[in-house]
Amino acid sequence: MKDLLRRVMPSSLKKWVKKQVLHNQPTPTWTYAEDGMCTMHIADFLEDKHFQKAYAAGKATGAWPEGDLHWRVYTALWAARQAWLLQGDFVECGVHLGGLAAAILTDLPWSKSPKRSFYLLDTFAGFPQEHRVVAAEVHRDDYRDDVWKPVQAHFKRYPSAKLIKGAIPQTLSLVNSTKVAYLSIDMNCAEPEVAALEYFWPRLVTGGVVLLDDYAFAESYRRQKDAIDKWAAPLGIPILSLPTGQGLIIRT
Ligand SMILES: C[S@@+](CC[C@H](N)C(=O)[O-])C[C@H]1O[C@@H](n2cnc3c(N)ncnc32)[C@H](O)[C@@H]1O
Repeated sequence: MKDLLRRVMPSSLKKWVKKQVLHNQPTPTWTYAEDGMCTMHIADFLEDKHFQKAYAAGKATGAWPEGDLHWRVYTALWAARQAWLLQGDFVECGVHLGGLAAAILTDLPWSKSPKRSFYLLDTFAGFPQEHRVVAAEVHRDDYRDDVWKPVQAHFKRYPSAKLIKGAIPQTLSLVNSTKVAYLSIDMNCAEPEVAALEYFWPRLVTGGVVLLDDYAFAESYRRQKDAIDKWAAPLGIPILSLPTGQGLIIRT
């Protein structure tokens, strides 16, 4: 019957039927809708007990008061697990209260790898004066509070965490590592982000993972994306733009 209909139906009518069928699809059931992203894709990780524990540890730092960002944290945990398979230290540039870092420090078995460190770099008091004017406009007035003491107190429970206080790029040379397996960049400002990439790129091990937190999150972060793309292009480094707004690079 279907075949017969197909044969006798004029093509204009076929097109009309197809259009009706496509447009009358039931509204998808959203499996995830937060942090600028809405999808019907399977999000089983939300029910995963290990993920929930790591996420809760991140949230317990007091980070992310404005809203949850489960898929971004899930991506960071995947990147960290991938890097864990390699030899090398972990570095995060732009830590604030340490949400992402605490999630990773909870998720991975750090006590079994005592030689590995997770270096956490931040002024712990917001953008340095000279960068505040060029930082992503939506964040120019953020992170001004001095969070050094509470962060120090909170991260004492993670012996692998090494806090480095001060402005990037000046503090980059304080990272006592020549082998980096995981690099997270989350400063909401193009200049120190590119400086961190330039500094760590030669120190990243093959297969090492670089996660750019706000790479393509929104137009308000365009300056960062443009600057990072400009750094990457002549080196032939492909950057994966993720639906979460993050950027992902694998060191080859
Ligand atoms: C978005 S927050 C980091 C959030 C964090 N990754 C998390 O897991 O919640 C950005 C941080 O970058 C820091 N920052 C910005 N520019 C910096 C620079 N040039 N040197 C050091 N820290 C900087 C700010 O102090 C702020 O704490």
